[in-house]
Amino acid sequence: MSKALEVSGLTVVYGQIAAVREVSFTVEAGEIATIIGANGAGKTTILNALCGLRDVRAGTVTLGGDDITHLPPHERVRHGLSQVPEGRRLFGRMSVAENLEIGAYARSDHAAFRADLDHVLELFPRLKERYRQLAGTLSGGEQQMVAMGRAMMARPRMLLLDEPTMGLAPQIVDLVLDAVRRVNREGVTVLLVEQNAYGALEIADRAFVLESGEITLSGHGLDLINHERVRAPIWDMTHDHRGPGPDPVAPSPADPSPARGAGRLSRGDARTGRRGHRHHRARAAGAARADRDRGVLGLGRSADAAGLRQPRDRRPRRHRRVEGVLRERDRP
Ligand SMILES: Nc1ncnc2c1ncn2[C@@H]1O[C@H](COP(=O)(O)OP(=O)(O)O)[C@@H](O)[C@H]1O
Ligand SMILES: [Mg+2]
Repeated sequence: MSKALEVSGLTVVYGQIAAVREVSFTVEAGEIATIIGANGAGKTTILNALCGLRDVRAGTVTLGGDDITHLPPHERVRHGLSQVPEGRRLFGRMSVAENLEIGAYARSDHAAFRADLDHVLELFPRLKERYRQLAGTLSGGEQQMVAMGRAMMARPRMLLLDEPTMGLAPQIVDLVLDAVRRVNREGVTVLLVEQNAYGALEIADRAFVLESGEITLSGHGLDLINHERVRAPIWDMTHDHRGPGPDPVAPSPADPSPARGAGRLSRGDARTGRRGHRHHRARAAGAARADRDRGVLGLGRSADAAGLRQPRDRRPRRHRRVEGVLRERDRP
């Protein structure tokens, strides 16, 4: 087997604190690998570093033999790396169809678009039934399928999944894990990050236990299920410290509507029309969020964000449409 992903000495810091310390692991092509760990262990930080959404302090990331440690996120998508982010981050006010379409933006071979769409709908038949429905009105499990389908539209060689079973009922968890298996059988290498250790270990060829930013144990998934460190709860899986998961029918957190109406002046000066610091903070946070989504979707940074002005936007119409959605959603 060849190495799909090789991570060596990965260290990621937030300010002075190293959230991930000298983490090394390998995923072979065609495998399902999992990183399990408690809330705050550093799972999302690792995935974001792999996608280029977090700077790496030290270490290297090699994908299919190519060093991608310092590539921008959208180039990594072109290299065949796709992420299903934590919390799904769908566009709740767009239809299932449109959400899937967005996943194909990084691709240049638009002729194959239709074939890939059919393929994704075959993989997740439920999405065919829900094709024209707004993503925000789907159940949590269905939303997860849309998020996976969207990632598959980029035709990844490797799929990264950040806690896809979070907040889902046990039967739905099984459906989602089953979908992960099906994607893997299509020849896509999977790196699954989970707090729900047992479900992940059951389907994983290779597993790593992450504790406080360090890998403390590794082995075959089924072997680790019976390992005393995993059995004796190294973390309490019955309590999710973030409280209950998302309401299955609530609009997804990426619903492009939050903070609408907040275009009003926030603690600004009503007479001069100057906007207050809260407005500017919200705007900066919105811009950061939109940039993250562009990275995940392989769109690259917007010309605005890069400090450039394009005299005329020559990108395909579908690119421009999603830019519009991101701008609308993140308008303070
Ligand atoms: N943007 C951030 N700024 C500062 N600290 C962060 C940030 N994101 C995460 N952390 C911290 O890094 C550690 C790992 O977080 P994270 O990777 O989200 O863990 P997990 O995904 O395993 O729950 C935690 O202690 C968390 O508080
Ligand atoms: Mg996380």
